[in-house]
Amino acid sequence: MHPRPARSGSVLVSALPVVPPRQGAVAAPALPPAGLPRFSVSKLEVIRDGRCVMQAPSLDIPRGEITALVGPTGSGSSTFLRALNRLNEMHARTRTTGHVLLDGRDIYDRAFPLLELRRRVGMLFPEPNPFARTIYENVACAPLLAGVRERAELDARVESCLRAVGLWGELAPRLRQGALDLSDAQQQRLCLARVLASDPEVVLLDEPCAVLDPVAARQLEDLLLGLSEQYTLVLATHDRYQAARLSERAAFFLHGELVESARTEDLFQCPRDSRTEAFLSGRYG
Ligand SMILES: Nc1ncnc2c1ncn2[C@@H]1O[C@H](COP(=O)(O)OP(=O)(O)OP(=O)(O)O)[C@@H](O)[C@H]1O
Ligand SMILES: [Mg+2]
Repeated sequence: MHPRPARSGSVLVSALPVVPPRQGAVAAPALPPAGLPRFSVSKLEVIRDGRCVMQAPSLDIPRGEITALVGPTGSGSSTFLRALNRLNEMHARTRTTGHVLLDGRDIYDRAFPLLELRRRVGMLFPEPNPFARTIYENVACAPLLAGVRERAELDARVESCLRAVGLWGELAPRLRQGALDLSDAQQQRLCLARVLASDPEVVLLDEPCAVLDPVAARQLEDLLLGLSEQYTLVLATHDRYQAARLSERAAFFLHGELVESARTEDLFQCPRDSRTEAFLSGRYG
């Protein structure tokens, strides 16, 4: 197992630089109720075409840290992730049962507004998907939708979000250029800036480094470590080393089932289930 950077509460030895917390970039989310997990999942099942493709009896996701969802391909980690902002509903013939509490409110309750959910729980996908618009428009989109009209305020939001993802220095002179002209690595960071521009509390990360080269992947990982000071991050990854480097807690999925979860170092050092041990030691995926 690769060592992961020392984080608060971790006894693992640092081998990677830890990005310091950002200062004065994006507005901090409202203070949450003390002691409550950001997400509390129970009896969650996603059923597609009459078949249960993902079941998670119970999982709490603490606020202000990175929780990794690990498992081999087809394990259900993306389906679980997408259940946290009701994205599975976009598939026809798919239904979800059970409970997903966000700060104590069930996001599957009809009374929970979908727009509020999507603003509070942003998502980054394996392949960057910027809009075919300018760099500026990609980031300004969320504040515009939220009703921000003052040009100076929009400019400030765009700058703070691009700074938050380390892109301001290289992109400031090119804000009116097309986002699709950027490299994959820049596009993925731009998409992260676009997510941050909606002022979320949670960012879901589905294999965010999947199309990045190793250097760009490490840069994005460092960025995520810095962002975890301020946001709750949930990372679906097939890469157990990445989970070890980044996460405080980890949940292991296999064949559409949440097998077990624990603090990452406990899961890696003392897995309770032999299937978890088999995956972590490289015998699956
Ligand atoms: N659109 C879909 N239609 C039907 N079944 C699907 C669909 N997407 C995923 N599944 C099934 O749901 C299960 C979980 O898939 P999921 O994508 O969540 O796994 P994963 O761990 O993220 O793996 P990968 O990232 O390699 O796709 C799998 O059995 C898969 O076949
Ligand atoms: Mg996946």
